[in-house]
Amino acid sequence: MNFSDIYFKEHERYISETALMNGKKYHSFISADYYSLNTHTFIKQAAMDAIQTYGTSLSVGQFSDRSPLIKQLEARLCTVSSMEASCIFTSGYTANLGAISATSKIDNVFYLYDKLCHASIVSAIKSTKCGSEAFAHNDMTELTAKLNTHQGKTIIVITEGLYSADGDFVDLPSIVALKERYDFMLYVDEAHSFVISSNQKNVAQIFNEVAAGSIDIISGSLSKALCSTGGFVIASSKMIDRIRMSREYIFSTGITPSNIAASVACLELLSASDRHQKLAENIAYFRQKAKENNINLGMSNTLSPIFTIFPNKPCAELYQSLLDVGILVQPLLYPAVPKEHERLRVLINAAHETHQLDALIDSVVSKRHAYNNADALELNK
Ligand SMILES: Cc1ncc(COP(=O)(O)O)c(C=O)c1O
Repeated sequence: MNFSDIYFKEHERYISETALMNGKKYHSFISADYYSLNTHTFIKQAAMDAIQTYGTSLSVGQFSDRSPLIKQLEARLCTVSSMEASCIFTSGYTANLGAISATSKIDNVFYLYDKLCHASIVSAIKSTKCGSEAFAHNDMTELTAKLNTHQGKTIIVITEGLYSADGDFVDLPSIVALKERYDFMLYVDEAHSFVISSNQKNVAQIFNEVAAGSIDIISGSLSKALCSTGGFVIASSKMIDRIRMSREYIFSTGITPSNIAASVACLELLSASDRHQKLAENIAYFRQKAKENNINLGMSNTLSPIFTIFPNKPCAELYQSLLDVGILVQPLLYPAVPKEHERLRVLINAAHETHQLDALIDSVVSKRHAYNNADALELNK
């Protein structure tokens, strides 16, 4: 199977809980639009209204000129996270680059980051040329040892809220307990966890025992649950002023007015809806059905909409065999992941119907039988 058979596929319309390619409709499990709002009338109308008033492009660096929509989005992001200030970048990737480069100017700074952090975080840390070490994924013993080793430095601990490749949440309560002992700065990339909870807030709300104000910097992407494109950082006013001075912020044109309007409308809609209920029901149903079929759910946490399938057969082969029966999932293949960790990623959305979740589980189970080996497939290891 060629690279081009798997990637850069052309879709004939938006990708949601279904997809359309070459005239064929698929059950789709690849969209990170977790609340299924990408095609919602209210959000599309907000984006179209923004185009009418502000045009299709900002056409100027947002550092100097911007539409009032930006202020609305920044204010809504602050409300969700109960933090002081925020700023918008052209992507989640550049948000991490800009924010981390801004923190590198802090005296004697040293980064400790989870080994499974997103590529943008690792690239950003490396490009600062400051000292850094990775700790084993969610491993509090190793993090504690490193905090002891590096006492006296200004430590910034960086994690993701919900790990995008495996579907597990950061062990926030333990990190916050360490923070009380070691007094470091906590930076959490919430690209996948922002608004993923019963109250549609940040990851701290998922662990409701975690005190407000425990996270110092939140970064994230507008391209997941906020159904747009762009990135953001939320922090104290002082820190945001510093981040606005980053090269990634100053020397880049802002995202389009319609992208901003879409996320504003999305947050408005979410704050007044019970859409999380349907997403939670789908996650619980999928989890239960997988359990009934002896499918190992591995690292994915209870509230997580992200699941992974680790096949023993070549991953690309399983991907294709699911595609053949009309099921589209995301292959995470080498070199994006180590060869022995190749996997398929399943993203559950609010709009998935029960029969679609059944179809996915039943197909995985039937492939397991087709391989004539009950252990041939595992959902997560
Ligand atoms: C954890 C994490 N951070 C950052 C990003 C980058 O976000 P964007 O796609 O908006 O550049 C992603 C994207 O997949 C992500 O999963």
